[in-house]
Amino acid sequence: MLFTDVFVEPFAQHPQWATFLPVPAPLAEGENPGDLLPGRHLQRQARPTDTANKIWNRIAQRINAYPYATSDQCSEKHYRDVFEFIRLNTGSIDRFVECGVFQGGLSILLAGCALEFDFQLDLVDIDPAALNATFHRIRLTFPEALPRIRLFLGELPNYVKACVREPDFQNAVLHHDGSHRFNIVVRDLASLFYVRSKLHAVLIQDTHLRHSDPAKFCFVDAAVAAVFGLDLKYQPIGVTFHATTFPERLKREGEHDVYFVGGLSEGMMIPLAENNFLYPHALHSIDDFIAFPAPQPT
Ligand SMILES: C[S@@+](CC[C@H](N)C(=O)[O-])C[C@H]1O[C@@H](n2cnc3c(N)ncnc32)[C@H](O)[C@@H]1O
Repeated sequence: MLFTDVFVEPFAQHPQWATFLPVPAPLAEGENPGDLLPGRHLQRQARPTDTANKIWNRIAQRINAYPYATSDQCSEKHYRDVFEFIRLNTGSIDRFVECGVFQGGLSILLAGCALEFDFQLDLVDIDPAALNATFHRIRLTFPEALPRIRLFLGELPNYVKACVREPDFQNAVLHHDGSHRFNIVVRDLASLFYVRSKLHAVLIQDTHLRHSDPAKFCFVDAAVAAVFGLDLKYQPIGVTFHATTFPERLKREGEHDVYFVGGLSEGMMIPLAENNFLYPHALHSIDDFIAFPAPQPT
């Protein structure tokens, strides 16, 4: 199938694929949640705590108290811009959906925001280890946010299908940092067509990213254009490099590298009220975008 990602296939064999997971069992005392999903470039948290915004500072202090180093995958500016978006939309967001959590770099901020700004938080990932690692990180930092959080194992179209008839799914915002492959991101964004009246905005990361391996088809910004068109209305978020940049710390010996294209923003904030879905067409259905459905009961 065109939309099948070989990387996803092994995860889709999980018996709870395309469902909300039960609350994970507690970890042993002293166990590092990050060990559930090892990452590279581990760093202790050092979010600024002296900004002009007291709410950010409060959240940042608690994030920084985390006792383990983590592999957070977006720039500090990206996290700050996501916070700023939430702050500006205080009271208008009922549900935040994060697709692609890894070790919870953004999720931990969203958990703090869920408490401060009163919304529900759905975390979506294909990898149960990422969902578990993130859940336990949140448990150590914002335990009182856990009742607001659900973990969904699957791809974004699976999640959309699960939520499309939920009466509580409304006034939602999506952050996308899952697959970066052109066809998969097209498919993910296209699936949002089926919840478009319940979604305020899509925030998407790595729109400046390319991979030196052409087979990776890393074109998140082009996927956005495929779905929303070339006259897209968006606000840049995150970092924009003046020139194309090959970050030293992302280099892998003897392997292909990722790099950032000069002049393109790290992320985009796309308000749905100001944009149209040029794709999909009314003849499509959500099932056309689901590569790996939930296992059928036997
Ligand atoms: C770059 S990381 C996310 C980093 C995170 N936003 C942060 O702030 O650190 C990408 C995550 O997306 C997940 N992923 C990859 N392909 C996916 C897909 N098709 N659907 C959902 N999640 C996916 C991976 O398992 C991984 O956890």
